[in-house]
Amino acid sequence: MSTDKKQLIINAFAMHSPGHLNPGLFRYPADKGADYKNIKHWISFAQKLEEAKFHAIFFADVLGGYDVYKGPANLDPTIPAAAQFPINDPLYSIPAMAAATESIGFGVTASTTYEAPYALARRFSTVDHLSNGRVGWNIVTSYLESAARNFGLDTQIEHDERYRIADEYLDVTYKLWEASWRDDAVEWNKDSANINGSTKGYRYADPRGVREINHKGKYFQVPGPHLCEPSPQRTPFLLQAGTSTAGKAFAAKHAEAVFLHAQKPELVRPSVDSIRQQAADLGRNPRDIKIVAGALVIVAETDDAAYAKFEQLKKYGDREGALALFGGWTGYDLSTYTDDQDFRFVEQPAVRSMVNHWASTVPGTEGKKWDKNTIADYLTLGGNGVKIIGSVQTVADELERWVTVGDVDGFNLSYASIPDTFDDVIRLLLPELRRRGLFWSDYAVKGGTFRENMYGQQGRSRLPDSHYAAKFAWRKGEEAPPYSLKEHQ
Ligand SMILES: Cc1cc2nc3c(=O)[nH]c(=O)nc-3n(C[C@H](O)[C@H](O)[C@H](O)COP(=O)(O)O)c2cc1C
Repeated sequence: MSTDKKQLIINAFAMHSPGHLNPGLFRYPADKGADYKNIKHWISFAQKLEEAKFHAIFFADVLGGYDVYKGPANLDPTIPAAAQFPINDPLYSIPAMAAATESIGFGVTASTTYEAPYALARRFSTVDHLSNGRVGWNIVTSYLESAARNFGLDTQIEHDERYRIADEYLDVTYKLWEASWRDDAVEWNKDSANINGSTKGYRYADPRGVREINHKGKYFQVPGPHLCEPSPQRTPFLLQAGTSTAGKAFAAKHAEAVFLHAQKPELVRPSVDSIRQQAADLGRNPRDIKIVAGALVIVAETDDAAYAKFEQLKKYGDREGALALFGGWTGYDLSTYTDDQDFRFVEQPAVRSMVNHWASTVPGTEGKKWDKNTIADYLTLGGNGVKIIGSVQTVADELERWVTVGDVDGFNLSYASIPDTFDDVIRLLLPELRRRGLFWSDYAVKGGTFRENMYGQQGRSRLPDSHYAAKFAWRKGEEAPPYSLKEHQ
């Protein structure tokens, strides 16, 4: 077995909804999507994935309904398909899953556009404590008009402005997590008190080790201090998805893992190179950014069996739900076009370029007309991520190609049906990846934090010194966090 191959990161990509990237599949006999509201469903899912040594479960989340298609503000096509609606808040299930596991990580999506940083920092610190350092934050700026309306805005804040807000938002949360409590501020330790025979004089924490952050910026005013004492990772492991110019710059500065969707590794490579280069320009190790590609893997004993399974699953898909997802992602309502409109030639440039991209990359669609039906068919399973379908050999070869050609570090595997898409991956694919020396046989740090296991390094629970936010860290023995002294010079 070769030992010098890149070890893959394998995450599961899920959502607290009956359907994630599989509108209508709750009707598939083996699918347990509708159990999303049962905590036991998530606990057994987490245990199964930990047993198989998945790095993490990554929960997507949105704050509004997909109501653009046949809209405006119409959820009629979305509701019957359970197209990411209804949707519960993912954060509440994490402590329960953490209590039933010891090493798997949990990525949770939360938006910098609609939630106050003071409250978000507290919720993530709480879960970092309760999970023993196994929570990650997928930082998103959000994209749904329906979310904007429900958070009191007439329309969405402009795209790049959302990223500028996010950048200051991160400053606030870094200060709360890293700079408000000195590492050794909490003094209370029952064992040492007992040794001395008396608890008198012992205090819970040193008041000089807890400071206000006094953040006064363009978008946020937060005096602090942080409500929570230091948690194992302080700052949760930081994930990000977003590949616009502003998104890539944001990722290069903040993200520890970046999540991308693309059809081919050749096409993802320029984004990967650009993010790594920008990170290097900021003094970071470009390899400290783990690039994780979204993929739907349908694997079976043979190629034919895998394709048959894929076609069988697709029969349960809801095309109206798929077009509703398209509407929410892009803001374009395809119901305003005729059924025979070929979107490769439509006037709307954003839709035209997206559909032409699919037309030139999606296997098996050469020469096909890209009308509404083709788009719905394509988006029914796995959304806009690559679909890798085939025998164990075919899938493993293709994943290896993504690593060598795309320079990705791993995959976020979505599902056509939960949990049996993962059962197939566990039973068939993971043993082959292990045989090829591509996937670990156990967690690098058993019982470790999310960050320790993503980097495979014991003791690496905190952001590294080369990360932008390291300057906020208030270390043991320091009178004040060094950044605060510089700011007041
Ligand atoms: C693979 C992938 C997954 C995403 N998951 C979410 C999500 O769960 N919730 C969300 O609000 N946005 C999600 N997004 C949207 C991005 O975070 C970002 O807001 C959006 O892509 C716009 O940014 P961009 O123009 O920089 O790409 C996702 C994007 C990608 C590419």
